[in-house]
Amino acid sequence: MESFSSIKDIKNKISQWKSEGYSIGFVPTMGYLHEGHTSLIQRAKKDNDKVIVSIFVNPTQFGPNEDLDNYPRDLERDTELCTANGGDVIFTPSAKEMYGDNPCAYVDIKELSQELCGASRPGHFRGVCTVVLKLFNIITPDRAYFGEKDAQQLAIIKKMVLDLNLPVEIIGCPIVREADGLAKSSRNTYLSNEQRKAAVVLSQSLALAKTSLENGERDANKIISIINEKISSEPLAKVDYIQVVDLKSLKTVNSITDDILVAIAVHFDKTRLIDNFSFQIKK
Ligand code: PAJ
Repeated sequence: MESFSSIKDIKNKISQWKSEGYSIGFVPTMGYLHEGHTSLIQRAKKDNDKVIVSIFVNPTQFGPNEDLDNYPRDLERDTELCTANGGDVIFTPSAKEMYGDNPCAYVDIKELSQELCGASRPGHFRGVCTVVLKLFNIITPDRAYFGEKDAQQLAIIKKMVLDLNLPVEIIGCPIVREADGLAKSSRNTYLSNEQRKAAVVLSQSLALAKTSLENGERDANKIISIINEKISSEPLAKVDYIQVVDLKSLKTVNSITDDILVAIAVHFDKTRLIDNFSFQIKK
C-alpha cells in the first residue's frame, strides 16, 4: 500500500496511472475506518482498476463546539483496512497541505445545506463541499463513492457535481449496520456502554416508521409522531430533529406523494448520531 501526503506526489502517481489507461475510483473519508467505509472501498474496487482512499479530518466542516480535536484517529489500522479491502493508495494530506495559508474560495450548495443537519451545524456542508471539490480536483477520479448513511451529504455532493459540471460519477452505497441495527459510525466509539445499548432506538424507531409507510400511512406528521414516541421512550436519547423530506429537494413534506427521505438526528449527551431511510412511492 502506497501512502502520499503531498498533493504533488499523488498527482504524479495518478498521471502515471492515467497514462497506462487505468480507471480510478475514489473514497473520501475522515479515517478511523469501519465496515461502512470498507464497503465503499470494496465497491470502488469492483468498478475501477485503481482505488484511492483519502484520510483527512477536515477542519472546515467542524463547528467551534464540535469534536475536531477529539475525532478518533488510527492511521496504522486504517492502512491495514484499506489494503485488506482493495485500496491501492492512501492520501493523507495535512491541513496546511490542503488549505495553504489563506484560503478564500469555497463552495456552498445553499438550498440543500440549510435543511436537516445544516440547521444544527451551520457551515458544515460548506466545509464538506469545499474539501470534496478540492479532492476531486486533485484526484480527478472517474467515480467517487459516498454512503447513504450521510444522505444529505450524498444529495448535496450530487447537486454540486451537476451544477458545476464536474466530470465524476457519484455512487451512493447502502448503510452498513451493527448486528442490533445501529448504523456504523466512527462516533459510536464515544458512547458509554449504557448509551450504546440505548442507541438501538434510532434504527428501531425508523423500522416502525417504515412499517407504517408500507401499510399505507401518507401523513408525514404521523410518521414523525411514531418515531418521536419510540425515541422518547429512551431516557438517554434527546431528539435533535425528526424529518420527512422530499428525496431530491430535501424540503419538508406534509402529505407523502413522492419519494421521501426519513431522517433523524439524536443526541446521547454530547454525541450526536444520525440515521435515515428512503421510501419510494409506487406510481
Ligand atoms: P466519514 O464520516 O469518514 O465518512 C466517509 C464515507 O463513509 C461517507 O461517504 C459516509 O457516508 C460513509 N459511511 C460512514 N458510515 C457509513 C455506514 N455505516 N454505511 C455506509 N457508509 C458509511 O463523510 C465524511 O467522512 C466527510 O464528510 C467527507 C466526505 C470525507 C468530507 O470530509
